[in-house]
Amino acid sequence: MTQRTITINIMRYHPETDSQPYLQKFEHIPYDNTMSILDMLNYIKENLAPELVYRSSCRMAICGSCGVMINNIPKLLCKTFVRDYVGKEITISPLAHFPIERDLVINMTHFMQSIEAIKPYIMDGLKLAKDEMNKQLPALLVKYQQFTHCINCGLCYAACPQFGLNPEFIGPAAISLAMRYNLDSRDNGHHARMPILNQENGVWRCTFVGFCSTVCPKQVDPAFAIQLAKVESAKDYLISKIKIQS
Ligand code: SF4
Ligand code: FES
Repeated sequence: MTQRTITINIMRYHPETDSQPYLQKFEHIPYDNTMSILDMLNYIKENLAPELVYRSSCRMAICGSCGVMINNIPKLLCKTFVRDYVGKEITISPLAHFPIERDLVINMTHFMQSIEAIKPYIMDGLKLAKDEMNKQLPALLVKYQQFTHCINCGLCYAACPQFGLNPEFIGPAAISLAMRYNLDSRDNGHHARMPILNQENGVWRCTFVGFCSTVCPKQVDPAFAIQLAKVESAKDYLISKIKIQS
């Protein structure tokens, strides 16, 4: 039986030798129906380009490390299959809107700082006795459960035109995570998170394009989280006005 093959273009950039990123073409790469794009990159690294640099770890859409652009759409390498590109060329480039470190590896410093800034942990909760559990009811869990599924892959930032225009925008994943805790009945950290979401580069930078939710590999729906956060932000504003007048 003839081995099936495909052509793949990979963006390369080694800052010490390249003045700018460029596409390298790899032709006649063998594949079968079980192969992910990550498997294909591993084949290329092992056989054709040992110096190729990209991130991956879990190979099962859990660690969030393998985000790239595949034919200009943000995707996880390990969750995308070669069989879905038969008859086309595949072009892989680093996640859009992030600074490139090397080949497909991006600098995620701003992303990590944004996640850290919104204080992604339960704050000022009840003081519990030793061994006592602070339980959560299923009816309350559904309010924020989908936001807990984020794997910090950054795909939503690569999909966000506002982050493309303004790299200081706190962004979809950080806002989703803020709402994950603000909506948790065990948390009392609203007062610490909302000033960050209310600021110039907070929720109001979002123009509700919604592509962040389309590309999210875990169905977090960050666009929905941002709209919830806008409601909270508007409430904060109105309350502050009422306090000034009274
Ligand atoms: S919200 Fe979705 S796309 Fe954004 S970082 Fe989390 S898992 Fe990735
Ligand atoms: S390798 Fe972990 S999410 Fe793809």
